Amino acid sequence: MPALVLLGAQWGDEGKGKATDLLGGSVDYVVRYQGGNNAGHTVVVGDQKYALHLLPSGILSPGCTPVIGNGVVVDPSVLLSELSGLNERGVDTSKLLISGNAHIITPYNVTVDKVTERFLGKRKIGTTGRGIGPTYADKINRVGIRVQDLYDESILTQKVEAALDAKNQMLTKLYNRRAIAVEQVVGELLGYADKLAPYVADTVLVLNEALEQDKVVLFEGGQGTLLDIDHGTYPFVTSSNPTAGGACTGAGVGPTKISRVIGILKAYTTRVGAGPFPTELFDEDGEALRRIGGERGVTTGRDRRCGWFDAVIARYATRVNGLTDFFLTKLDVLTGWEQIPVCVAYEIDGRRVEELPYSQTDFHHAKPVYEMLPGWSEDISKAKSFSDLPKNAQAYVKALEEMSGAPISAIGVGPGRDETIEINSFL
Ligand code: GDP
Ligand code: IMO
Ligand code: MG
Repeated sequence: MPALVLLGAQWGDEGKGKATDLLGGSVDYVVRYQGGNNAGHTVVVGDQKYALHLLPSGILSPGCTPVIGNGVVVDPSVLLSELSGLNERGVDTSKLLISGNAHIITPYNVTVDKVTERFLGKRKIGTTGRGIGPTYADKINRVGIRVQDLYDESILTQKVEAALDAKNQMLTKLYNRRAIAVEQVVGELLGYADKLAPYVADTVLVLNEALEQDKVVLFEGGQGTLLDIDHGTYPFVTSSNPTAGGACTGAGVGPTKISRVIGILKAYTTRVGAGPFPTELFDEDGEALRRIGGERGVTTGRDRRCGWFDAVIARYATRVNGLTDFFLTKLDVLTGWEQIPVCVAYEIDGRRVEELPYSQTDFHHAKPVYEMLPGWSEDISKAKSFSDLPKNAQAYVKALEEMSGAPISAIGVGPGRDETIEINSFL
């Protein structure tokens, strides 16, 4: 049976949480494969709203086993408070599995994230300040702390010492901060060991056995394609691989197992933090998208930058992820515009460019070339099938599909589970 990947096709916040939750009822496992609590995934079930950061959105579906894969970075205090918050609301979290190979976001990683951003000044990335980049840097530098290290005090102490040796030099001599004591960090981390122990597992084995037994596994990306460390708008990116290949390395499942890759695509574009954004709006249309779309960050509460749909980006996401389908979200937010501009290409230094330029300089100079599509004024939030949509909304969806290079298999017309038009089944 299939392994599916569900990921963000733009700069994050496309509605991945809602889409994962929608499929959660029909899949056996939902797996986060990268990122950490920089993610903020909103799920609305009936009159209940959940904001998930580290836990896979499948946690809200009783039959589904949520998995935090080896590629994720885990802040234990955030994880435990997210679990207890859900328990208080009656959600059973006992099935959760956490990879023993996942890396831990330590308190010093959070400190380094914040001081680095401060020192970058106006060149800052606008990170979420959750320690994500420094934790992945430690992983690559081979001085990271893994979940399994919590169960061997001697190894944990040696590793924290090795990591802090260099960091304390940097914190005290370069950043003028106090040194961090090894014992304090080790003590704090050991305090999480017993609480996390019931969840720690060999998730690679579990997932591969599940696939052999024809179980359905859904990989839920955090962030989005344009925030990918390799394929995004570097350096204004996150420090992991949200793109489809990241699901293989971040969960230990071979590419031959993946049968479908679904790109979550907002009907317009948003971005949080710094970096280029060709279709960004600074006028009342941008303000209206922010207001109607409720475009405020779930993790940091920052206003999201808003702009029109960018088909160049959608085509790029299709290519680098091998997308088989799109799930178009928030079409309802566009109701009421007489005409809706859609970016079909860029103009860069007087040239028309159809595909995303690999050169950062070119992308910074890219000006959107817009095509105007006719809008609609009818309320679409109750639409259940494609034919329920007004003709112009249908034409908007069809135009986006043609420009983006993969079929639009579902359309979101509201935040709720049932506010979705399913066109082709995902399973
Ligand atoms: P994620 O990070 O990709 O999971 O997305 P976020 O949760 O950060 O942001 C998406 C927001 O849009 C959330 O508030 C969702 O409840 C909401 N949302 C998702 N799909 C739709 C939709 O089709 N229509 C509307 N109006 N809201 C949606
Ligand atoms: P979800 O999963 C939107 C952005 C930050 C910043 C950059 C690097 O909800 O779509 P980081 O803390 O990751 O080192 O910050 O990436 N960013 C996101 N933007 N949605 C997210 O997650 C994001 N996670 C990180 O704003 O620009
Ligand atoms: Mg989000």
